[in-house]
Amino acid sequence: MKKNAKYIPALRFNWLTRFYDFLISKFLGEKKWKELIIASVVNHRPEKKLDVGCGTATLTIMLQKEFLAASVTGIDGDSKILAIADKKIKEAELNINLKETLSFNLPFADDHFDVVVSSLMLHHLSDEDKQKTLHEIIRVLRPGCHFVVADWGKPNSIFIRWLFYIVQLLDGFAITKSNLKGLLPSMIIDAGFVAVKELQRIPTMLGSISIISSKKP
Ligand SMILES: C[S@@+](CC[C@H](N)C(=O)[O-])C[C@H]1O[C@@H](n2cnc3c(N)ncnc32)[C@H](O)[C@@H]1O
Repeated sequence: MKKNAKYIPALRFNWLTRFYDFLISKFLGEKKWKELIIASVVNHRPEKKLDVGCGTATLTIMLQKEFLAASVTGIDGDSKILAIADKKIKEAELNINLKETLSFNLPFADDHFDVVVSSLMLHHLSDEDKQKTLHEIIRVLRPGCHFVVADWGKPNSIFIRWLFYIVQLLDGFAITKSNLKGLLPSMIIDAGFVAVKELQRIPTMLGSISIISSKKP
């Protein structure tokens, strides 16, 4: 894969990737909203789960621990971050499939997974690529099954909007504009999902994280 051709690394610069877990837990309180994602799918007892843009696999590992009998796959476009994920998975003695691939062309059959999650990945993509990714996610999800996403949403206050400039400086103004305007739910609807609902919008030190649940009809 051509380096950086189609994805932005977790903290934009490869040399920052090694600090990702520390920064995300320190400044974004990731445990709280990642637990919310798990709680929103816990009743569905999924067997095959996919984490799109899994990064260092924190959420992927949480999913596998919650549903030990199930199979979990994490995909990401960045081999460096997948190496960190692989190390964490081995240390936790878990069995998770990691795949280096991009979200626009998922290497899975139609209707394959019974839960898809994605956290802080969509804001790395242009609106066109967000749509391509959402279409791929609905394709690989089984009918009646859930897609839950956590990503930057409309700021809860003016103060949080100002803090979000830090994210925009790092990740880019154009690609984060639809997040800032709170357009993710309508983009998810446009891709064909139903029962699209913002479960919570959580203020953090860098912006508001919106947890959105949806279903393939
Ligand atoms: C901010 S990190 C989030 C990682 C993890 N999901 C989390 O919540 O901590 C975004 C991740 O998305 C990946 N990514 C960005 N664009 C991608 C794409 N088009 N396909 C696959 N992965 C992508 C990056 O490599 C990075 O690991």
